[in-house]
Amino acid sequence: MTERVLTGITTSGTPHLGNYVGAIRPAIAASLEPGVESFFFVADYHALIKCDEPARIERSRLEIAATWLAAGLDPQRVTFYRQSDIVEIPELTWLLTCVTAKGLMNRSHAYKAATDANATAGDDADAGVTMGLFSYPILMAADILMFNAHRVPVGRDQVQHIEMARDMGQRFNHLFGAGRELFVLPQANIDERVAMLPGLDGRKMSKSYDNAIPLFEGGAKGLREALARVVTDSRLPGEPKDADASHLVAIFDAFANDAERAALRADLKAGLGWGDAKHRVGERIERDLGPMRERYANLMAHPERIEAILLDGARKARAVAAPLLRELREAVGLRRMVAVGAELGGAGVSAATGAATLTVKPPIFKQYREADGRFYFKLAAADGRVLLQSAAFDAGREAGQWVARLKAEGAAALAVAGAPVLRSPDVSLEEVAEALATLAAA
Ligand code: TRP
Repeated sequence: MTERVLTGITTSGTPHLGNYVGAIRPAIAASLEPGVESFFFVADYHALIKCDEPARIERSRLEIAATWLAAGLDPQRVTFYRQSDIVEIPELTWLLTCVTAKGLMNRSHAYKAATDANATAGDDADAGVTMGLFSYPILMAADILMFNAHRVPVGRDQVQHIEMARDMGQRFNHLFGAGRELFVLPQANIDERVAMLPGLDGRKMSKSYDNAIPLFEGGAKGLREALARVVTDSRLPGEPKDADASHLVAIFDAFANDAERAALRADLKAGLGWGDAKHRVGERIERDLGPMRERYANLMAHPERIEAILLDGARKARAVAAPLLRELREAVGLRRMVAVGAELGGAGVSAATGAATLTVKPPIFKQYREADGRFYFKLAAADGRVLLQSAAFDAGREAGQWVARLKAEGAAALAVAGAPVLRSPDVSLEEVAEALATLAAA
């Protein structure tokens, strides 16, 4: 069985070394393992929780998407998308919200940090807390459960959220699964060595602590300058230093191999000065980042390329999300009203038995001619929504031939190069395939 790996990065700032080491690099490495199917995304709905500056949101989405790609994500191999392009996610968020205990959310670290800060400041416990912040873990659970991810590579600070996603998935399965596993229960995946990259001051590297080293911004020079600000002890050159107590060394370790790590430790013990050590750390990091920075600059200069990749990813992601969401709606009772389906087609009351009857209308192909004199067809669902729309044909016969072909070959005919048919943007391939299958069976 293939294993699904999924992770996202909130788009509320400029990517830093911690994002790369803690999330991007391990996720890309996992995506290259055989038997792994990966879903990576930019968590822009999450960004709205922390940021009400549209320009910053816009900029950050672009930077983070470009970072994923520059770091080696292969969009052919990975389903790479923007959270906000997947309309199924907010809908699933609601379904989960309705089965999540408020008490569970009260225990969320992010929420507790806010109420603790308010208590310290003598404010009302919930001052400045939005419902978005409060139910942040539910949106995150929807991200994960929507794609039935098995493994979620995250930093240690996110582990609680994965556990909450498991709780919600489990509860939903129990309430509505009727013995089936509607959701896979996800597992957090932490790389013990690099789970917590320290920042300039030794605390976890984070934009909220203002201790981050930017990944690409500022170039090699910016990297050197940031490293110069890493706090070290006051031992002088020539004095032996304890490498393992130094977070400069922890940053180095995240990039170095075993031999390089041993060498730096030995040299510090022998009295290497902190200035020289920083120089060595900078060179080592630059060796990895230099080539990526070039790709990054290139992508940033071509946002249209990034946009096209993300839209294609959204299409792939929704082909997975839409069928599952349909199943979930069905499971909770959001179903077609078979007994009162007059609008759907030939519903009525049987004169003989008095029972409500229903014949659900099948989807239908409509061929027609426009004022331009050319010929067209469309495929409409039972409820009237247009599923497929053809291009213009000069001859009615050509349009008829394509209709026949779609009926005979089903959705496969859509994949034919140059097929003169477009699927409506809000309709999944799945639904079209189902409609065509109904017609083929009729
Ligand atoms: N909350 C995560 C963070 O801030 C980002 C995120 C959103 C995420 N949805 C996710 C990570 C789903 C993993 C899986 O780092």
